[in-house]
Amino acid sequence: MVAKGREPAISLDFVREKNLMQLKKLNIALFPVRYNDKYYSDALAAGEFTKLAYFSDICVGAIACRLEKKEAGSLRVYIMTLGVLAPYRGLGIGTKLLNHVLDFSSKQNISEIYLHVQINNDDAIDFYKKFGFEITETIQNYYANITPPDCHVLTKFVNQSPTKK
Ligand code: ACO
Repeated sequence: MVAKGREPAISLDFVREKNLMQLKKLNIALFPVRYNDKYYSDALAAGEFTKLAYFSDICVGAIACRLEKKEAGSLRVYIMTLGVLAPYRGLGIGTKLLNHVLDFSSKQNISEIYLHVQINNDDAIDFYKKFGFEITETIQNYYANITPPDCHVLTKFVNQSPTKK
């Protein structure tokens, strides 16, 4: 655990081909799922909606999204992954990553933001609820290779209200 104290130097950076390996390494450390090429091409294509987080100059977290077209021309954002390396949690890095996506979404034609989370991941569920996400569906046997295999769908319907700071 990194000591809290004076304001840490947390910065966000784009994901591009050149630093894609950083996202791959983070995902291996953070998640029990192996992501395929489509995940990484969607993450790259999402532009501003996919970001790496740096603590000083160490890459410690990331948010990776996919943009989906909805009827009537609006877009929705699917958060594929959000994670911060364990020693760097509780320092506001997850908040900074999620707020970035929420703030950017409110300036675009985005109607909703959603994600899947394993039903026993209480930390992540509580985290997302603080930002106004709600459980909109529970899917049995969503995951093939992890236990429990069930997930919640968490959704935030976007309006122009300010995000949590
Ligand atoms: N210590 C203290 N508080 C914590 C901690 C921790 N280790 N983790 C989360 N919190 C709580 C705090 O209460 C805090 O609330 P506050 O701002 O009111 O004090 C809140 O979460 C936000 O804390 P942050 O520091 O901004 O979040 P953090 O950088 O720890 O990231 C995250 C949160 C991303 C959920 C992190 O716990 C994580 O990486 N978990 C493992 C990966 C994961 O499960 N990701 C989500 C899966 S679902 C998906 O990816 C779509």
